[in-house]
Amino acid sequence: MTRPSLSRPSASATSLWGAAALTAIAFTLGGAGAGGPEQDKPSTVLVESGRDAYLRYCASCHGVDAHGKGPVAETLRTPPPDLTRIAKRRGGKFPAGEIAAFIDGRAMVSAHGPREMPVWGRILGEKIAEGTTEDEVARGRIDALVAYLMSIQE
Ligand code: HEC
Repeated sequence: MTRPSLSRPSASATSLWGAAALTAIAFTLGGAGAGGPEQDKPSTVLVESGRDAYLRYCASCHGVDAHGKGPVAETLRTPPPDLTRIAKRRGGKFPAGEIAAFIDGRAMVSAHGPREMPVWGRILGEKIAEGTTEDEVARGRIDALVAYLMSIQE
């Protein structure tokens, strides 16, 4: 009985070097221009576009001034929270990632009963811009909304 040979051609030195070179390139690209000291300070442009989106999509419930008294608020079982106090409610911290995920809503598991706030990740991704995916569109808009919300914390 002949046993099948176990020997395989081993990874050649050249391909290892190729991989190392690619990693080096990736580092260089990733390093260039990626967030300086200003990273957690959203740009004015982002805040402005977030404000536009806020007035269009959110003011009906949360109010134009974001204090939670929009015209639709009364029809809801859960009163829309005051969005100028997101940080105040959390001991002065504004957890941007958590807030973005909440607005998006697609990844939320409803542990606290049905949510009254719409699942924005689905809605905002619908109108697709040329050359981008629904997800990218939704994320971009949510980033802008979060930047706006950060700018109005009291
Ligand atoms: C239909 C009414 C409605 C609209 C429109 C709406 N929300 Fe809400 N929002 C709520 C309600 C109600 C809650 C409380 C949680 C729940 O029951 O879903 C809430 C909660 C939130 C919270 C959580 C606040 C906290 O401190 O945890 C954020 C952030 C938020 N909304 C942002 C937005 C943004 C941004 C938009 C626009 C894209 C928006 N909301 C549009 C009703 C609304």
